[in-house]
Amino acid sequence: MIIVLLGPPGAGKGTQGERIAERLGIPKIATGDVLREAIRNGTEQGLAAKSYMDRGELVPDSVILGIMKDALSSPAAAKGAILDGVVRTVPQAEGLTKLVADLGRKVDKFLLFDVPDDELIRRISGRTVCDKCQTPYKGFEPGTTCPKCGGKLVRRPDDEPEAVKTRLRVYRAQTEPVIHWARDHDLDVAEIDATGDLDAITRRAMKAIQS
Ligand code: AP5
Repeated sequence: MIIVLLGPPGAGKGTQGERIAERLGIPKIATGDVLREAIRNGTEQGLAAKSYMDRGELVPDSVILGIMKDALSSPAAAKGAILDGVVRTVPQAEGLTKLVADLGRKVDKFLLFDVPDDELIRRISGRTVCDKCQTPYKGFEPGTTCPKCGGKLVRRPDDEPEAVKTRLRVYRAQTEPVIHWARDHDLDVAEIDATGDLDAITRRAMKAIQS
């Protein structure tokens, strides 16, 4: 099963993606996590992506399509994958559709996480993430030890207010058109109310996946 998570920054794609992947027994692939790891490792791909990411802009489609291809062709994704933030432009959506068709598969569902802007900003300004396992947290200060893996919690450079404004603007301009593109192509897009209790959101997402 291949499920694409869509939604603005801070909508909970990472948080819920982890839970959904665990319930379905398939991996979660997040381009943001792959790119941050490349930056930490100082690879060529990481160096090329860093300035775009720090400003809150999108990394070029060619880089993302390469990551998608590697991830989806790997044995770990043989049973499927939860794609978190992997599709942010119409060319990426077209590229993914072609890639999965070439692999003899299809995208089963687009899950669109819906959260009002003021709540997104509140969530992002209170977020820290583990520099090792990438789990996002709220209510922990940078420097705290990750309760899950023992890594160190840090604040993401693109969670600074100016970069957050850019990310929201970029989402409206470049990623929202993907929703219209998917609906125009009769693909299955389910909108999820992603506010409130984490378990309730997971239940709504699982219900949408199973329907
Ligand atoms: P990425 O890392 O994917 O960032 P994003 O899409 O902006 O999303 P976030 O990680 O900020 O939020 P999220 O929706 O995962 O929410 P989370 O679960 O953390 O991408 C970063 C950058 O990489 C991009 O800007 C771009 O430069 C580049 N990039 C990546 N993919 C790309 C692509 N395909 N094309 C081009 N460029 C690409 O939750 C947020 C906070 O809220 C957390 O603190 C969490 O604990 C809390 N929270 C979650 N749910 C709830 C709830 N129900 N109630 C209260 N708090 C909650």
